[in-house]
Amino acid sequence: MELSKVLFRSYFFLLSLLITGNEGWQHGAHHVRPTKLFVFGDSYADTGNYKKSEANSWKFPYGITFPGKPSGRFSDGRVLTDYLAKYLGVKSPIPYRWRKFAPKCLQFGMNFATGGTGVFDTLVSEPNMTTQIDNFEKLITKDSVYTKMDLQSSLALVSLAGNDYSAYFARGGSAQGLQSFITLVVNQLSLNLKRINGLGVRKVAVTTLEPLGCLPRSTVMSSFQQCNETENKAVSFHNILVQQVVAKLNNESQDSAFFVLDLFSSFSRVLKSKGAPLGNLKFETPLKPCCMGISRSYACGSMDEKGGKMYTVCTNPESAFFWDTLHPTQAGWHSVYLALQASLEEIH
Ligand SMILES: *[C@@H]1O[C@H](CO)[C@@H](O)[C@H](O)[C@H]1NC(C)=O
Ligand SMILES: *[C@@H]1O[C@H](CO)[C@@H](O)[C@H](O)[C@H]1NC(C)=O
Ligand SMILES: *[C@@H]1O[C@H](CO)[C@@H](O)[C@H](O)[C@H]1NC(C)=O
Repeated sequence: MELSKVLFRSYFFLLSLLITGNEGWQHGAHHVRPTKLFVFGDSYADTGNYKKSEANSWKFPYGITFPGKPSGRFSDGRVLTDYLAKYLGVKSPIPYRWRKFAPKCLQFGMNFATGGTGVFDTLVSEPNMTTQIDNFEKLITKDSVYTKMDLQSSLALVSLAGNDYSAYFARGGSAQGLQSFITLVVNQLSLNLKRINGLGVRKVAVTTLEPLGCLPRSTVMSSFQQCNETENKAVSFHNILVQQVVAKLNNESQDSAFFVLDLFSSFSRVLKSKGAPLGNLKFETPLKPCCMGISRSYACGSMDEKGGKMYTVCTNPESAFFWDTLHPTQAGWHSVYLALQASLEEIH
């Protein structure tokens, strides 16, 4: 009798949690839910800004799950931006590159994120995060596309997934110099966050670095069995600095404008559990990508001169966490999004 009472009570407690949680999500009961999303950063957030002629993201099999053809997303389907927009209940913001073609869509915000970029200049030519924010600023001050009111009900997503570090090593940077370079990167990131908020955007979310040592690029050495812990240690240093910078910015600002979306812990949690407790997804070999070049000199989407496929794709992208050597599948992003739910509460 007693036990069933306890069970009944806890069932009710859970139920009420679910109901209130859901109500907040649907109606934004006591909070102002942002109605626009502005996005800065790289391929983890890009939904079509990369030049069509130059990126694999515009080639088959990218986009096969959503929207069913290549769309400039670096995945088989939806990416972080799409899930965050869904959370807000708005359409995924239009890529800056396509803004003139869909004036009706400007009301949902805009996506400036471009694959391959960082806070500094990387191996792709443009636009670094400073230039992305410059473009945003011009839309406010010069073209008056967005008003102060618009920005007050806006959220910014800032994605920094590690291209600055790839560029650092590609240019011959040393392991010894890495720590001070990480400090430079995070300091520049901090200036960017402050600038976005200074332009009037009320809430600014910034990602931690995902576990770089767990990307297929690194785990290919161990046949996709083990993460590279040396790389993940450097990532942890970056992430500690990001947390510190966000705490400092909040201490200096009026209304806790800044918060962290912890990709490191959400990726780690999903990879460790193979996605199991989060939704119905299951990733049998979570470190192995769905789409791979047939050898190291080919990437997912590569073709030879005669148009022959130089890559292989798994039969079911739903069962893979990673899409290519750097990016999650839509199923991967969905499970990361589920793991991020607690930090998304900070939006309110
Ligand atoms: C960003 O790119 C612009 C234009 O190429 C360049 O002038 C600027 O120095 C870059 N900013 C940073 C922080 O690297
Ligand atoms: C881990 O990464 C570091 C730095 O990129 C590299 O020097 C090392 O060889 C890697 N270790 C393994 C076991 O792959
Ligand atoms: C917040 O700022 C005040 C002064 O501006 C400072 O004394 C305090 O140490 C800061 N706290 C944190 C957590 O940075």
